[in-house]
Amino acid sequence: MSDEFIPDFVEAIPLPAVLVDQSERLIGANGVARAMFGQNIVGRHFATLLRQPQIIEAIEKSLVSKDPTETRYLSNDGAQDTTFIVNCRYVRGVGAVQGGAVVVSFTDVTHLEQANQMRRDFVANVSHELRTPLTALMGFIETLRGPAKDDAGARERFLEIMDGEASRMNRLVGDLLSLNRVESEERVRPKEELDLTAQITSTIHSIRPLAQDAGVRLNLEAPDAPVLVMGDADQLRQVFTNLIENAIKYGGSGGRVDIKLIEMERDVAVRGPSARVQVIDHGPGIDPVHLPRLTERFYRADSHRSRELGGTGLGLAIVKHIVNRHRGRLRVESELGQGTTFTVILPR
Ligand SMILES: Nc1ncnc2c1ncn2[C@@H]1O[C@H](COP(=O)(O)OP(=O)(O)OP(=O)(O)O)[C@@H](O)[C@H]1O
Ligand SMILES: [Mg+2]
Repeated sequence: MSDEFIPDFVEAIPLPAVLVDQSERLIGANGVARAMFGQNIVGRHFATLLRQPQIIEAIEKSLVSKDPTETRYLSNDGAQDTTFIVNCRYVRGVGAVQGGAVVVSFTDVTHLEQANQMRRDFVANVSHELRTPLTALMGFIETLRGPAKDDAGARERFLEIMDGEASRMNRLVGDLLSLNRVESEERVRPKEELDLTAQITSTIHSIRPLAQDAGVRLNLEAPDAPVLVMGDADQLRQVFTNLIENAIKYGGSGGRVDIKLIEMERDVAVRGPSARVQVIDHGPGIDPVHLPRLTERFYRADSHRSRELGGTGLGLAIVKHIVNRHRGRLRVESELGQGTTFTVILPR
C-alpha cells in the first residue's frame, strides 16, 4: 500500500485506530481515534500519547516481531473509566522506508465488563440470601434430631420458625422468577386496556387485612370515572401491592397511608396525558443517601428491619421493571421524619 492511501485506510476501520511505523511515530489516525486522543496526533511519538507501559510494550513487540499482540488499556476522561482491548496488527510495505507499520485498534469492553460484574454480584447476592434461611433450617433440623427430640413444646416452636424460613425462601424464589419474567417481557408493550380506579380499589381491598393488623388506615382519593391506561393487569397489581405493602411495613408508624390517583392532561414526565398514582406514607422516611439505589436488586435502606419483616429486597426492582415496560416513570420523594411518597406515572 502506498502511504497516500493511509488516511482512507485508517478511516475505513470502524474502531478507534492509529498506525505506527518503524520510526515509532503515528503516520495515521482515524476520526474516532483523533476524537479520543486529540486532533493533531499524527506525527507524534506513540509513547507520548499512549503512556501505559503494557501498551507501549505491545506496540514495540509487534513492530519488531511483526506478530499480532493484544493488551488492555484503561482510560479515564475524568468522569468515568473506560476499558479497551487493544489489538496490534502488522501491515507490510507502509511507513518509513516502507519498513511496515502496526495498526493499533481499540475495542471498548466497558459494558461487557460491567455486565459480567453485575452477573457475579447477582449470583453472590442470591447465594447469600438463600444461605441465611437455609442455615437456620439446617440448624433446627439438627436440634430436632438431637437435643429437642422428645420435647413436644420445643418441636412445635421450632417447626413454626422453620415454616417461616421456608416461606422466606419460597418468596425469594418466587420474586426471582417474577423479576426474570418481567425483564424478559420488558420490550413488549402491554396491549390490554384497563381501568386504574377499579384496579387500585381492588388492590387496596385485598391489602386491607394487612393494614388492619398493622393499625394503618388506607385512604383512597380517586376520580369517580374510570381512568383508562394500556397495561398488564397482573403486573400493575404487583406494583401497587408492593408500594402499599412497603408503605405499611416501613411507614406504618404514621398510622395512615394515602393513595392518590390523579389524571393529568399534559405531563412532562411522559410527554403527554398521564395517570399518576401516589402512595404516601407518614412514617420515618428514607435517608436521601439510599434513594438512588432503592430500586437495585436486594438493596434495603434498613436491612435489619426489612429482613425482620420478611422482605426480599426485590420488590422495588420488580416495580421499576414493570413501570419501564409500561413506558412510565417511578419517582420517590422522602423527608426524614415526614414520610415517603412513591409516584408511578403511566402514559394514557
Ligand atoms: N415507604 C417506605 N418507607 C421507608 N423505607 C422504605 C419504603 N419503601 C421501601 N423502603 C425501603 O426500601 C427497601 C427496598 O424495598 P423493596 O420493596 O424493594 O424490598 P422489601 O420490601 O425489603 O422486599 P419485598 O418487597 O421483596 O418483600 C426496603 O427494604 C426498605 O428499607
Ligand atoms: Mg417491598
